[in-house]
Amino acid sequence: MDSFELTTSSGVTLIRLADEGAEWIARELAVLFGARRPRVLVVTDEHVALHHLEALLVALRTEDFVCARLVIAPGEAQKSFARLREALDTLATGSFARDDVVLAFGGGVVTDLAGFAASVYRRGIEWIAAPTTVLGMVDAAIGGKTGINHEAGKNLIGSFHQPRAVLCATRVLATLPEREVRAGAAEIVKGALLGGGEFWRDIEQAGADATTWSAEILRSFILRGARVKVEIVGRDERESGERALLNLGHTFGHALEQATGYGTVAHGEAVFYGLRAAVWLSRLTGALDPMRADELQAWLARCELPGVATTPDALSDALRADKKTVEGKLRWILLRGPGEPFITAGVPGEAVRDCAEWLCAIAQTGRSARHGPRKRRVLVLHGPNLNLLGEREPEIYGRMSHDDIAHECREAARQHGFEVLIRQTNHEGDYVDLLQWGRRWADGLILNPGAFTHTSVAVRDALAATYLPAIEVHLSEPRQREEFRHVSLISELCRATVSGRGVAGYADAMARLSNFLSETGVGVAR
Ligand code: DQA
Repeated sequence: MDSFELTTSSGVTLIRLADEGAEWIARELAVLFGARRPRVLVVTDEHVALHHLEALLVALRTEDFVCARLVIAPGEAQKSFARLREALDTLATGSFARDDVVLAFGGGVVTDLAGFAASVYRRGIEWIAAPTTVLGMVDAAIGGKTGINHEAGKNLIGSFHQPRAVLCATRVLATLPEREVRAGAAEIVKGALLGGGEFWRDIEQAGADATTWSAEILRSFILRGARVKVEIVGRDERESGERALLNLGHTFGHALEQATGYGTVAHGEAVFYGLRAAVWLSRLTGALDPMRADELQAWLARCELPGVATTPDALSDALRADKKTVEGKLRWILLRGPGEPFITAGVPGEAVRDCAEWLCAIAQTGRSARHGPRKRRVLVLHGPNLNLLGEREPEIYGRMSHDDIAHECREAARQHGFEVLIRQTNHEGDYVDLLQWGRRWADGLILNPGAFTHTSVAVRDALAATYLPAIEVHLSEPRQREEFRHVSLISELCRATVSGRGVAGYADAMARLSNFLSETGVGVAR
């Protein structure tokens, strides 16, 4: 584990990074609070909840913490008054006390929102940031900036409220989509360009595409990027001077996000483009040696980014609304070289205009993914008692455990080039929640709802609302068993039913789904 501190006027924030999963966060909380056990409001989003919330809650309970949870939908739109209200309602109606704590378990949206709620509830209660994204670990969760968006601008309403600790359990990054890993690395690259020296040399060697870095390298870069941020924020918490350096790449980056509509490009992707603009302007204004600038430009251009269509006018309009404007002049962060950033208001308007035109041209085409289109995604959902497979009525269901079946499913998925997620639950509501989540994530479903097959109108309705192709699977042949098993409430919503074939049925279902998705072209170009 790596541990260091950020000291500001508000005290000391502990920053810890460990090659551990979500349970570690609970253990760290126990250490942090010693004998005391404050109540904990865990705020997270649906993506993180699906993969890691259960493990965290179980571990918190094991450590004797009493918890409440608030699970929000993913996305920037959640940094809203409505969601802030919901967080505050949860705290107030749950009678959270002055010495209770908010645990923000998620990416930048979650830490910004939950940190802000903590900063205003009872005039400020403690909060802990447990970031789950590269961007969060290296940047968003550090430094105490919290807030929500307003129609008139991003992060317009907020506060400085330092978390008591930033706990980064880096194993949770394994479930982060590649695009987010790649985009999040923009803040690492920014940190390396600000820090220079060995950090920059190592990054330069590793290449700009973070999805090609090993987990160990990624962890070490997050650590070094976080240290750069801590050093700068430690010297200038309220951005009266040096902290503005952290905006390297963010001037054109934010403009690109605003001009294309927030969410069209990921924040990190916009920052990559913004870093290219900063290097371009540094060269044009003579700050950066042209040879060095071209080398940096070529290096940055190797990171895969989606194409975005915008116009120089739209970018110029967005730049005019920039928060960094002082007395009508935009302050730019430029480079004399890696490790030599500086702040200047002296960039001529024509240079900015030229840069906007250049940026529009390169952003038009982007750099399409080397790996081709993303994999198709299949969600396999198992209902009640299937966790007991292997022990449960083996004469009917066979001797393979749920883990064995999951293994077979993964193998079949690999053969068809699918990304697969396999989940089992004994609870009807959870099965519905998983289907609702799958509706946005998956391209196809393989469902064995167990006994819910015969009873659950709620599961049937949730399936109908997914509009996804689904294959129904049963290990046994329900139609040859008790009469109450002869009815399936989901069959007519499924493309096919595979039953009575034991575990082999899953490979068959996967093949059928693959045929169907190939025929229709679903999922390849989204
Ligand atoms: C099952 C059949 C259901 O009738 C039963 O309730 C199950 C398993 C199967 O896979 O054969 O739990 O879905």
